[in-house]
Amino acid sequence: MKFYLETYGCQMNIYDSEIICSILLKSGFIKTSNLKKADIILLNTCSIREKPEKKIFNRLIKIKCFKKKKKQLKLGIVGCLATHYKKKLFEKLKFLDLIVGPDSYKQLPEIINKLKNNNKEIDVSLANKERYTNIIPKGVRNGISAFLSIMRGCDNMCTFCIVPYTRGREKSRNPNSILKECKLLYKKGYKEIILLGQNVDAYFWKKMKFFQLLELIAKTVPLMRIRFLTSYPSNITTNLLKVVKKYTNICKHFHLPLQSGSTRILSLMRRKYTVEEFLLIIKRIKTIIPDCSISSDIMTGFCTETQADHRETIRIMNLIKFNFSFMFKYSSRQGTYAYRKLKDNVPNSLKISRLNEIIRLQKSHSFYRLKQNIGTIQEVLIEGISKQDEKYYYGRNYKNDLIVFTKNKSKIGSYKKVKILKSTFTTLIGEILP
Ligand code: SAH
Ligand code: F3S
Repeated sequence: MKFYLETYGCQMNIYDSEIICSILLKSGFIKTSNLKKADIILLNTCSIREKPEKKIFNRLIKIKCFKKKKKQLKLGIVGCLATHYKKKLFEKLKFLDLIVGPDSYKQLPEIINKLKNNNKEIDVSLANKERYTNIIPKGVRNGISAFLSIMRGCDNMCTFCIVPYTRGREKSRNPNSILKECKLLYKKGYKEIILLGQNVDAYFWKKMKFFQLLELIAKTVPLMRIRFLTSYPSNITTNLLKVVKKYTNICKHFHLPLQSGSTRILSLMRRKYTVEEFLLIIKRIKTIIPDCSISSDIMTGFCTETQADHRETIRIMNLIKFNFSFMFKYSSRQGTYAYRKLKDNVPNSLKISRLNEIIRLQKSHSFYRLKQNIGTIQEVLIEGISKQDEKYYYGRNYKNDLIVFTKNKSKIGSYKKVKILKSTFTTLIGEILP
């Protein structure tokens, strides 16, 4: 049986798709990248905001046509939409055959086989504490940099966020299985590991905390670069900063979602820090690791956000000048506390104009941060050939800045010194040194 898998959403979903591939291939399924040749089409889905969700629904309508042409073709939704809407998806999408949530992928082969009798199948349980400890993901990424999930789920219950409902409670993975996967990735020729978790810094296994795990990984694969995301701001400890500083193979970068620059809004979001505390965390990071890069997630138009709250976000962004940010307009998600109890009362047009304002501001901050590299020499891990122009390579430095530079005979996957010549709003441009 041939399967076709399409992935939407965050890095965790990309990682999960690798897990799904690994499980299905092991059970004798064959992977195809040609949708028309598939016997089963799976969409690994995201429901964090309205926009990605709409995109997936539109895609499903298109895929429905294939089912008309090929009667035995099966169609399944896996991932966050599955646990968000559960069996309601069958009511909404009559042509759907399978719904499987993020904790039930090990059951996928069995569930797919059951579809032969023209049943509809669903498994959206989140109670089984699944960590996929012994499944080695099938590397579908670029062969240079690999994702590695160290924990799943989230316990924070931010009032706007669907993740704790779609991915369940926080569960950290056994460090031995993490180290085993690191060594395997190294053996396979990967050069970089990106540790994943909704809150990597909440990692906890018996007595082991995140900073200890990170140190172990840095020592176990000293020739690999280690990145991690996302960090929850109030979990950043001095111990963690010391480990990041000490090991040259750990990247000097924190992804630290601010969400809003207004303490009133932060408290409505049930984030566990005030704006003042967030600023202190930034100060602590910069004191211990002065050249550390910091990126963020920021949202506009959360329930009751006033113009004054928005001005506060602008003020804090101007104080911090993040290296880059992912920015969104708030969209109410069914089932969350904000959906049930707070007023989604900021008009859409205002959400959008505030969003555009912070996007413009962030662009100027990114440019400001990038420009400081002009004239310096940076060590870059070559990740591949630039999609815009084949004469160029692209890669990143230890701060996570994207760098594009002229191609020479250096191998993809090697570390090279690059002199930075200029900068755009998003990318550094340089020349490779002999
Ligand atoms: N674990 C991360 C966030 C994961 S979700 C953390 O610590 O914050 C990624 C980002 O999506 C969030 O940081 C938030 O900015 C955005 N997001 C989540 N729910 C949203 C919603 N309902 N509307 C708009 N943006 C949302
Ligand atoms: Fe979502 Fe907050 Fe967790 S944004 S993923 S509930 S930290």
